[in-house]
Amino acid sequence: MAVLKVLVIDDEPGIRSGVTRILRDFHVTYPFMDEDYTFEVLQAPTGEDGITMIENDKPDIILLDNKLPGIQGVDVLEYVRERKYDIVVAMITSYASLDVAIRATRDGATDFIPKPFTPQELKSSIENISKQLYLRKVTNKMKEEGKKIRYQFLSVLSHELKAPLNAIEGYLRMMQEKQSGERIDDYAPVIDRSLQRIQGMRNLIMDLLDFTKIRLERKEEKIQEVDLEEVARNAIVTVQPYAIQMDVNINLDVRGDSKLMADPEDMEIIFNNLVSNAVKYNKFGGRAEIIIDSTDTEVLLVFSDTGIGISDADRENLFREFMRVKNERTKNISGSGLGLSIVRKVIELYHGTIKVDSTPEMGSVFTVHLPRKQVTIP
Ligand SMILES: Nc1ncnc2c1ncn2[C@@H]1O[C@H](COP(=O)(O)OP(=O)(O)O)[C@@H](O)[C@H]1O
Ligand SMILES: [Mg+2]
Repeated sequence: MAVLKVLVIDDEPGIRSGVTRILRDFHVTYPFMDEDYTFEVLQAPTGEDGITMIENDKPDIILLDNKLPGIQGVDVLEYVRERKYDIVVAMITSYASLDVAIRATRDGATDFIPKPFTPQELKSSIENISKQLYLRKVTNKMKEEGKKIRYQFLSVLSHELKAPLNAIEGYLRMMQEKQSGERIDDYAPVIDRSLQRIQGMRNLIMDLLDFTKIRLERKEEKIQEVDLEEVARNAIVTVQPYAIQMDVNINLDVRGDSKLMADPEDMEIIFNNLVSNAVKYNKFGGRAEIIIDSTDTEVLLVFSDTGIGISDADRENLFREFMRVKNERTKNISGSGLGLSIVRKVIELYHGTIKVDSTPEMGSVFTVHLPRKQVTIP
């Protein structure tokens, strides 16, 4: 429940007390609003008093009479606009003459309440204004959050791109200054490290490309029948060299209809990331399993591994951008920390869900539900 402050600036005491009475028990609510509005009415008999109260009480709404004893309503309006105050102003005036109306609207008045008004007329104006205020608040909040998220993303990204460049630059300088000797062979480890950092940077850039590919909705022409079994097999082939190195055995178990209407690239993103994680964060000689199961209404995917697992605290932030668990076990595993955030975004586009269960040192299970008929096509 939020209280909106309504300031009535009118020289007629009857109008001021009338508004106070009418709005005392009034409240505004809409199904789409997550809060109720009630009203606190403040009164000012002149424009000068009104301005003092604008400064002291910061009202949300002003009901403004145009014809006042000292400065006029339009002057108060101008005062509010010049300072760019976030206040909705409605003019109440007995002769809502055209020129006043035009001037006031030009100066930013949003509504007119002709005098005399019935309680119902006042209430419906206030209702409209409250709706406007609510929408304005929600839009502002969304803009702010968007800005913050973009900024954070860019600053982490710049850091992630700069780190390998600095490292490689350092290695090159070592060679330039011949710090380890005269022969190129003296620098073999340094060259290996440089190549690793370049590979890491390339992976990050590939993940970024995936990241920018995720649009807000799916394009109809890209949606087609995708056989997830085939996508799974391709993902296994892609990660195979790494699996051989780690001696990890990958098993695929298809238990139901593995076909789904989707953008194939999206499904590749899901499988490639979850299968590669199941190998990367596994133990030497471990196992990874993919299960594809389905019902009439959804496809169920399970990716389980016998790897290093994830603690409860880390699990909470696992799907955040650039999130990487940092400990003894992960310090030599390279990655961008973008994979799971991309996977979650894609799954949400299909109105699906992803959850993770894990026991540290035992392994992890990622479970994905994808509804069959929920693809959003604009
Ligand atoms: N199957 C898994 N087992 C253990 N830890 C995992 C697993 N999958 C992901 N993680 C942890 O979550 C982090 C984020 O994963 P991800 O977004 O794919 O990024 P990346 O693999 O590039 O680091 C990883 O750095 C790792 O610490
Ligand atoms: Mg990953």
